[in-house]
Amino acid sequence: MRRINIAIDGPSAAGKSSISAMLAEKYGYIHLDTGAMYRCLGLNALRSGVSDQDEEALCRLLAETEIELHTDGSVYMNGEDVSKAIRADEVSMLASNVSKWKNVRAEMVRRQQKMAEAKGFIMDGRDIGTVVLTDAEVKIFLTASAEARAKRRWLQNQAAGITGHTLEELRDEIARRDEQDSGRENSPLKQAEDAVLVDSSDLSKEEVVEIISALVDRACAEEAS
Ligand code: DC
Repeated sequence: MRRINIAIDGPSAAGKSSISAMLAEKYGYIHLDTGAMYRCLGLNALRSGVSDQDEEALCRLLAETEIELHTDGSVYMNGEDVSKAIRADEVSMLASNVSKWKNVRAEMVRRQQKMAEAKGFIMDGRDIGTVVLTDAEVKIFLTASAEARAKRRWLQNQAAGITGHTLEELRDEIARRDEQDSGRENSPLKQAEDAVLVDSSDLSKEEVVEIISALVDRACAEEAS
């Protein structure tokens, strides 16, 4: 079957990463979680004492931040496995803060486009359909109600042994991040004109995968004909 590229965008905790990983497994594609890249820069800024408000310093730091996204979902920063560290709730907000800067985004987009030069990639983030992979054959805007997303993130945290934040605190953090990611000047989160909206509030992961798979199968068939 012909290979295509799939772009999945949407707000925080909508299930983009887990759905993308399931699709990657099903089709034998490579999943690139671009949020993990902004999380690495946020974590590195925190550790290095670089302000998330200092664009120039962040760009210098990014230049010396090597980020590897492995196919098993693990994330390495300058050779260190930071898969767990980047998921801490305080890093989520930092990732959103560093992602508002134009020159930070330009470098991230450059790296992402280089990684996905061929076909057979599923990339998830906020600007994939609108900026990074504008020619992706399938574009999805995956969303869910704020309530459903907060609950999912809370359950995910519990399962990963990350405690310390109540459901209400997570709901507030998600709302703040949504507002910041959608309201920023540079590449704000928005649905691409040619993206298909999928609301997963009342759907299981398997049902979401089924809906997207139908679109992927159709696009692959069209490519082949
Ligand atoms: O997908 P995530 O929650 O791991 O992303 C963390 C932050 O990174 C998110 O709040 C906004 C930013 N981000 C972005 O601006 N563009 C992307 N393509 C991916 C993430």
